[in-house]
Amino acid sequence: MKEKVLVTGGTGFIGSHTAVELQQEGFEVIIVDNFTNSEPFVAGRIEAITGIKPIVEPFDMCDAARLDELFVRHRGISAAIHFAALKSVGESVLKPLEYYRNNIISLLNLMASMKSHKCNALVFSSSCTVYGQPDRLPVTESDPVRPAISPYGNTKQICEEIIADTAMAQPGSLNAISLRYFNPIGAHPSALIGELPRGVPENLVPYITQTAIGLRSELSIYGNDYNTPDGTAIRDYLHVVDLAKAHVTALKRLLYGINKTQYEVFNLGTGKGVSVLEAITSFERVSGIKLPYRIAPRREGDIEKIWADPSLANRELAWKTVSSLDDAMLTAWNWEKELRKKTGK
Ligand code: UFG
Repeated sequence: MKEKVLVTGGTGFIGSHTAVELQQEGFEVIIVDNFTNSEPFVAGRIEAITGIKPIVEPFDMCDAARLDELFVRHRGISAAIHFAALKSVGESVLKPLEYYRNNIISLLNLMASMKSHKCNALVFSSSCTVYGQPDRLPVTESDPVRPAISPYGNTKQICEEIIADTAMAQPGSLNAISLRYFNPIGAHPSALIGELPRGVPENLVPYITQTAIGLRSELSIYGNDYNTPDGTAIRDYLHVVDLAKAHVTALKRLLYGINKTQYEVFNLGTGKGVSVLEAITSFERVSGIKLPYRIAPRREGDIEKIWADPSLANRELAWKTVSSLDDAMLTAWNWEKELRKKTGK
C-alpha cells in the first residue's frame, strides 16, 4: 500500500513540483488547494508528468470541518506537507489581518486534524525571511531569528513557533521539520509546471521572463548602491526541483524516524550568493535575449544580502542542490514560452 501524504497548497509553485517528486517516489498524494494563487489545470499537468492523477480536494484550509472530514475519508494519511499560505510580502503589509487569519488558522486547523487522526509527521514551508538581515554570512540555522519586517514574514515565524511548541509538548505524537527556503526559481524541465504569478510579478525571475517575452517593457533593478561587489542585492537562488526533492527527503526522515529531535529546522539553499545583475546575465546567456532594464530606487523592506549555509541539510538530509543558476533560468524561460504559447497572452 502506498503511503498517503497530504500536500496543502499542492497546485502552487513549490507544492506542484513537490507533488511530482512525491508521486515519482511512490507516495499517494492528496492535495488541498483553494486556488487563490494557483490554477486547477496544474493537477492535470502533474498527471502528465508522472502518469498519476493526484487527488485534489478544492477547499480552503481555514474550513476546519472540511479538513477534518478529509482525514476521515482518506483514512491513514501518514504525513502532511504544508505549503498553503498567502505569500506576497507587499500585500501582507496592506492586508495584515487576511495574512494572519489565513496563514495561522490554516496551520492550526491542520495540526488539530493531524492530532485527532494520529498523523504525526509534518513538513512546514518556511523561509529565510526569518533571519532578516543576518550579521554574518552564510547564515546557519543557529543564527538568530529577527523581528519580521512584514506580516507575511511574521506569519512564518509564528507558524514555526506553533509547530516547535507543539512538537516539543507532545513527544511521540508530532515530529516536524521546518524548511527555510532561500529564493526558489526555475520550473520543471518538462515545462508543464512552473511559477504562475497573478498580475504583475513581485519576484525577480518571473519579472525577467515576462519582460523577455514582451509582457513588461523593462525590468527595474531595485537599488545599485548596496554594499556588494556590483552594488545590487544578493540572494541565494535555488532550482525549484532541487527544493522539491528536499521535501521528499525531509518527509522520509520523519516517516522512518531518523530525525534527531521532534522539531528540526533546515536551510535550503545553494550556499552561493548571486547579485541581481549576475542573475540577469545568467538569463541573457541561456536565452540569448538582451534584457531591457533600468536602475530604480531600493525596494522598501529588501535586505542587502543573504545566502545559506546549507551544510546541515547536506549532512542530515543527504541533500544538496544539483542544478546551476543557468539551468534554473533556462527552465524558467522555457516555462514562460510554453505558457504564452498556450494562453496566447
Ligand atoms: N528585484 C529587482 N527587481 C524586481 C524584482 C526583484 O531588482 O522586479 C530584486 C529584489 O530587490 C531582490 C532580488 O531581486 O534584491 C530578489 O527579489 P525577489 O522578490 O525575487 O525575492 P526576495 O528575496 O525579495 O523575496 C524572497 C521571497 C519572499 C521572502 C523573502 C525573504 O520571495 O517570500 O525572500 O527575504 F519573504
